[in-house]
Amino acid sequence: MSLRYNGFVGVFDSGVGGISVLRELVRQLPSESFVFFGDSANAPYGEKSRDQVLRRSRAIVDMLLDDGCKAIVIACNTATSAAAATLRADYAHVPIIGVEPALKPATLAPNIEHILVMATPITLRLDKYKQLAERWGSDHDVIEVPCAGLAGRIEQGRLDAPDVDELLESLIGRYRGKVDAVVLGCTHYPFVAPQIKRILGEVPLFDGAVGTARQLERRLAERGLLSKSSGPGQVVFASSKDTPEELELYRSFFTLPL
Ligand code: DGL
Repeated sequence: MSLRYNGFVGVFDSGVGGISVLRELVRQLPSESFVFFGDSANAPYGEKSRDQVLRRSRAIVDMLLDDGCKAIVIACNTATSAAAATLRADYAHVPIIGVEPALKPATLAPNIEHILVMATPITLRLDKYKQLAERWGSDHDVIEVPCAGLAGRIEQGRLDAPDVDELLESLIGRYRGKVDAVVLGCTHYPFVAPQIKRILGEVPLFDGAVGTARQLERRLAERGLLSKSSGPGQVVFASSKDTPEELELYRSFFTLPL
């Protein structure tokens, strides 16, 4: 046990995507300190089996808790669907907050009927999403698009390259003019929000980061775990692909204008 990150909140994803959630956590909770772990050596998760994602998630949570983290944010829709319930049962003493496709806020927003949900194949296949869609989507036209290959491509960076637009066009081009809103049900996708808007026009995009940050604040407050410091917290990046280039990529996603 190293307790390197005693009092930090541990945040993880299969790779760079969770940084879109981390940005919102820092915005809403500036006095907290965060250690972000990206499992880029094993990304993408969205085309793996549920068991594989659960195994990786458990190994990462063990490592973050051994390092002294006081709470865990699963900044990944796929890992939340595959692993959150099991991890919460196994680590009942630690607040574990997940992220889910923001279908609820999209259905509650005015003048929205046709909603495109972009997510990984496994997120859309698992019960957690099916229950969410049944609960919130039944009065709307919800179109689900499993975006195989997209998170893996975002992992590589250089998001202004033409192949990113081509991939998106092949996934969602046929919905141009046919949808009123888009749910970004994978934490990697906010990083290609401008490209999605170029294809679909100025439709509102919904992602789960804001709700996740609010939930983290509530859960920390409930347990008296909010940071007592009034100054800004620290943000530390770590990766299973532990090279200076990869950590530089993480830092660039943290500050990328969106
Ligand atoms: N960022 C993740 C999600 O929110 C996983 C993407 C992937 O690794 O396939 O689903």
